[in-house]
Amino acid sequence: MNKLLVIAALFGPFSIFAQTPLYIPPTIETSTIDLTLQEGTTQFYNGVTTNTMGANGSLLGPTLILQKDDFVTINVNNQLGEETTIHWHGLHVAPENDGGPHSIIPDGTTWSPQFTVLDQAGINWYHPHLHSTTNEHVSKGIAGLILVKDQEEAALNLPRDYGIDDFPVIVQTKGFDANGQIEWMSELDTSLMVNGTIDAYLDAPAQIVRLRVLNGASQRFFKFGFSNNLSFQLIGTDGGLLEAPVTLTRYQMGPGQRADILIDLSGLQGQNVQLMNYGTEIANAIYGATQPGMMPQLMLPGYDQNPLNGSDFTVLDIQVGAPTANPVTSVPNALTTHVIPQEGTEDITRNLLFQTQQNIVGPFTINGSLFDMNVINYTVPLGNREIWSLTNQTPIAHPFHIHDVQFYILDINGNPPPPELSGLNDVVMVPAGMGNVRFIADFLDHANDSIPYMYHCHMLTHEDEGMMGQFLVTDPNAGINSNVSQDLEIFPNPVADMLTLKAENIIDATIYLVDIAGKKTQLRPAQYLPTSVEVDLSEFASGMYLIQVEIAGSTSIQRVEKF
Ligand code: C2O
Ligand code: CU
Ligand code: CU
Repeated sequence: MNKLLVIAALFGPFSIFAQTPLYIPPTIETSTIDLTLQEGTTQFYNGVTTNTMGANGSLLGPTLILQKDDFVTINVNNQLGEETTIHWHGLHVAPENDGGPHSIIPDGTTWSPQFTVLDQAGINWYHPHLHSTTNEHVSKGIAGLILVKDQEEAALNLPRDYGIDDFPVIVQTKGFDANGQIEWMSELDTSLMVNGTIDAYLDAPAQIVRLRVLNGASQRFFKFGFSNNLSFQLIGTDGGLLEAPVTLTRYQMGPGQRADILIDLSGLQGQNVQLMNYGTEIANAIYGATQPGMMPQLMLPGYDQNPLNGSDFTVLDIQVGAPTANPVTSVPNALTTHVIPQEGTEDITRNLLFQTQQNIVGPFTINGSLFDMNVINYTVPLGNREIWSLTNQTPIAHPFHIHDVQFYILDINGNPPPPELSGLNDVVMVPAGMGNVRFIADFLDHANDSIPYMYHCHMLTHEDEGMMGQFLVTDPNAGINSNVSQDLEIFPNPVADMLTLKAENIIDATIYLVDIAGKKTQLRPAQYLPTSVEVDLSEFASGMYLIQVEIAGSTSIQRVEKF
């Protein structure tokens, strides 16, 4: 047995240690917020001193409570002894305030973004985002919740007494080495913790309570549910409230995702209810399932020795006590309204293809490239409505995240999203093995000609290894954007069925077939190659057509004969 395995056995999920009350991070509600990033130590296990990092403490950070439309200043003072960045995951802020890899906070300095809170009520979070070091800094402990409040949400009869009937639930796993230090490079993240507490229990009142769940794990998906198959109501996702509560018994969450959950504990006083992970029900090819890849031989080193994989376990033990004086006893039927942009109204469709350099091990690429700080992958004209079509050619699912915007999912493998995924999100899982997800988003604010926003896989190992890209949002009236493709090649011509299109940035193109009557049909690429795409014309009648290709606002047209 190697040392890591000994520790895995000692510190495993089925530990003999006594339960510990769930740590509830303090809140900061002022419009000027001071965060000091610091090193410290934490006793995750009795008698074991682990070096950690936190904001205003040695682990995690305070919960920031922001009011929509307020103007806030956040002073982030870096005392870590090394550089980092802090990103406000989910907040719609300008790129210079977003805290991506370009906004480095040198050791001993303070970074002070200032912005108006434009977001709807919802659950967001903050974490470091220094390129190739994100996993290390998050694993060592820096992460905190950001709860945005607004008038619409405040008018609903919902639990919102922080720490009383409204609880932060930051779920993470960590690995420890033989010296009890955090190990972020292996698949042996055998220790589960909520708000940094291992074997946590929560005293909650016998009424409807609210859990603000963040999957803050570096790689792991969870399939949450409650013991005895107790149903719960999902009222919000990454970007805020759903239109109506969705009653569920399971909800799967990838790294970075948030869930606003109501659970009715009425009448359960004196009993225990467990928030569970049902890992046996996670489909293979998702990190956390029995198999991380599509086939048993696609293993990651150590993965099958990690008892958390493919198993059911308690995440949080809820001990139900007396109700409060004014409990919430019913759930509103309507929460908010969503006006989902219709397909066809977009300015462009961008195609992102996930590939791998070494099957399940990666590194994983997006459109053939690893992240390069000096390459802008896309330029989005301010005001654009865009569809991003994400296709995963790798054997493992990836939780894709985009900064700046919240999106609506159009379809997952061609099917419309279920109700729980019909609200606004900034992370979505793209299934393995040619899985496809399309989302639509409006890029309405925050043009900046030099500082980009990120998009990436939120499995932090994948992100750190380069499964990330960046885009600028630029004001077209300022004359910056040009991504013209005038070199369209199509072949063969005449064509029987499969037509190949070649052009610069063809992977981003929206492709139409126009018949002699002028009828225009959008063609979905059947296959992507590095510099070309194939479309299938077999369903169309013989005759002359035009192929119209739109890339970043410019249009190329070629005539093709179908026989
Ligand atoms: Cu939560 Cu770019 O990150
Ligand atoms: Cu983010
Ligand atoms: Cu990934």
